[in-house]
Amino acid sequence: MKYSLIFFISFILSAGINAADDKTKEIELPEIFVSGDATIGAKLVDSCAACHGADGNSISTDWPKLSGQNQRYLYEQLKYFRDGDRMNALMMSVTPYLQTLNDNDLKHIAAYYSEYKSTTGQAKNDDDLLALGTQLYRFGNIKKQIPACTSCHAIYGQGNSLAGYPSVAGQQVGYLTSTLKAYRSKERNAGEASLVMQSIAANLTDNEIDALANYMHGLYQ
Ligand code: HEC
Ligand code: HEC
Repeated sequence: MKYSLIFFISFILSAGINAADDKTKEIELPEIFVSGDATIGAKLVDSCAACHGADGNSISTDWPKLSGQNQRYLYEQLKYFRDGDRMNALMMSVTPYLQTLNDNDLKHIAAYYSEYKSTTGQAKNDDDLLALGTQLYRFGNIKKQIPACTSCHAIYGQGNSLAGYPSVAGQQVGYLTSTLKAYRSKERNAGEASLVMQSIAANLTDNEIDALANYMHGLYQ
């Protein structure tokens, strides 16, 4: 009798706990609303400043700015680096550190960089390069099956934060060039979204990549 009462009580309790679990699941936000805490993020980025700058504005043309980037995109890329899906020799130096962080830590880092403003870049004033970059970025090239970049990265390069389409405005030229080439060669191959960019970049020549990189570097929000 005593035992069955205990069993009954523990049954009720466990039912209660399960119900509470269900509730937290119900209100869990979908992945598109990636939202971390920048104050916590600030304490996790000491080892990043040497390359990406304390405020996410990197000093080298070959290293990407993280400032002003949307949280969803940053979070996804950090997971790719941590989990070994996206490889880069320089980022490899912090991979062991990233592996000590959980998904929430990565969201906090993403929140930290997204709060800074990206410094404005200056496009090279070369008429032919600018004309080609403007034309391709805004209108694409139907004959070569290159869609207009504006449809996903927006007219001023700000991207689409809910969809997680990255901002490209003011991004470093060297990085824009190398990353478009990495999509073209399929070396950049992390996640389904990278397949979209692989098929777009597949049809770009080196000259078109230079023109697009120059154009995007000069965009500002
Ligand atoms: C030694 C230099 C170096 C250090 C240190 C470094 N990074 Fe990077 N990071 C890079 C380079 C170079 C790339 C571009 C990789 C590529 O071309 O695929 C990159 C790419 C990234 C990207 C993707 C940017 C994009 O637009 O897709 C994120 C996010 C990032 N780093 C975050 C971090 C964080 C967080 C840290 C610290 C824990 C860090 N990095 C430390 C050099 C570095
Ligand atoms: C259908 C939507 C779509 C179109 C059109 C599109 N992009 Fe993208 N782009 C994306 C997505 C999504 C990503 C992130 C892919 C990933 O996770 O690797 C991306 C990534 C990029 C990146 C890398 C950003 C970074 O910080 O590493 C560059 C550069 C870029 N696109 C340039 C372009 C250019 C130039 C065009 C036009 C020729 C273009 N994109 C057209 C959706 C698009």
